[in-house]
Amino acid sequence: MTSNLLLQLSYLIGSITFIVGLKQLSSPDSARKGNLVAAFGMGLAILGTILFHTHDGAPIGNIPWILAAMALGTVVGWLMAMKVKMTAMPQMVSFFNGMGGACAAIISIVEFHSHPHGTPGYLLVVFLGLIIGTVSFSGSIIAYGKLDEKIKDITGKLLTYINLLLLVLILAALTAAVIAPEIMGESAIWVLLALSALYGVLFVMPIGGADMPVVISLLNSFTGMAAAFGGFLYDNPVMLTGGILVGSAGTILTILMCTAMNRSLLNVIIGSFGGGGSAAGSGVKGDQVVKEINLTDTAILCAYAGKVTIVPGYGLAVAQAQHICHELEKKLEDKGVEVNFAIHPVAGRMPGHMNVLLAEADVPYPKLIEMEDINPQMNSTDVVIVVGANDVVNPAAENDPSSPIYGMPVLKVWEAKNVIVLKRSMRAGYAGIENELFFHPKTKMLFGDAKEMLGKLVGELKDL
Ligand code: TAP
Repeated sequence: MTSNLLLQLSYLIGSITFIVGLKQLSSPDSARKGNLVAAFGMGLAILGTILFHTHDGAPIGNIPWILAAMALGTVVGWLMAMKVKMTAMPQMVSFFNGMGGACAAIISIVEFHSHPHGTPGYLLVVFLGLIIGTVSFSGSIIAYGKLDEKIKDITGKLLTYINLLLLVLILAALTAAVIAPEIMGESAIWVLLALSALYGVLFVMPIGGADMPVVISLLNSFTGMAAAFGGFLYDNPVMLTGGILVGSAGTILTILMCTAMNRSLLNVIIGSFGGGGSAAGSGVKGDQVVKEINLTDTAILCAYAGKVTIVPGYGLAVAQAQHICHELEKKLEDKGVEVNFAIHPVAGRMPGHMNVLLAEADVPYPKLIEMEDINPQMNSTDVVIVVGANDVVNPAAENDPSSPIYGMPVLKVWEAKNVIVLKRSMRAGYAGIENELFFHPKTKMLFGDAKEMLGKLVGELKDL
């Protein structure tokens, strides 16, 4: 009785810490603490299960195996997290998410074999956990491969039809396995496993490589749902709470990302949007020609400005230029210039990408100004320096209804007095489209790698 009370108490505390941790994750100031709080809760729930869980009156067995698996997982996870580069973070999230899906699927397989003749309700929960967990696993692994540029997109109408056929087959097999389990018998679990694994692969295959963050968030919500089904099976409240939280947070994040890009989820899934910025633009458009600026003139323009706004984008992450960006900010402030950073909600390739990078470089958090707050200040800004950003400052989103990004809220940098765009070439960004901003009368291009050029710019400022 006391054991059960302690077990339930550990689950209650675990569930509460998940909710508190998730809340703390919503601000970069408290996110680190939120992660630790939730991890503590999970640790407590695991410890509670090992110490106090009983089955038919007997304590939990296989303790050495459980501890060995935990130690192995901890070491591998810790090494991966320590080694990963910031730019490879989405891949790692995808990989870990896939592992979560695989765990949920394994739970279903084990449970099915323990009770192959369960009630239809029980079988439905088992099979749904299996299907969703497996799709999440195989889809996440393909997403990982694509983000790591190991797997190329495969598109085409045929694939859409094959995917539709697979969905129909999965639904038919699920219905048969639940309503008339004698038809497939124990092979039902393997049939559903194979169909779901194939569907996960083929569902992610055609999605534009650059759309992967949205897909990962969607797959993340699948993993949460699959884990919640596991919670039902084991009558385990902490697993249920954790699964529901992951499922709903993933769904909300998916919706937020789509809204911030002004695209529907269907468009993300079948749109094949963006090609990782390979389309080359040219420096001439009709009679418009881009104007270049050199480092010395950039340094003079910034040093004598009253207010400078830095717009970081994906290129800042690629170049790992966050530290030198902070140097630039400090150098300009030493010269009496007011400096802040304009943060677009989908700048970079994952939610909060720019916040994380700049926090890593110790840029004070109040200096990061969100899009809604910075846009009204643009016309009182002397110089905007766009560092490796492209789509998030593209005026086509405001004034070209034929543009694929039309309607996406953007940073209105062209309203500032001067705009300097720092990037390596005229190549397009994520959406694969040309940017009118580069030809704008107020814009001057500073071509080069963000880290190298900002380093040189700081050097020029020292000499002024
Ligand atoms: P992008 O539009 O992708 O543009 C990044 C630019 O950085 C490129 O044009 C590239 O030009 C430049 N660049 C790359 N490496 C560089 C380097 N070493 N030094 C300097 N510049 C470099 O980035 P953005 O403006 O941040 O927009 C993000 C895009 O991703 C949006 O379209 C958004 O919808 C999409 N997206 C975001 C998310 C999230 S959650 N953040 C999720 C899915 C999709 P060069 O090659 O010429 O240098």
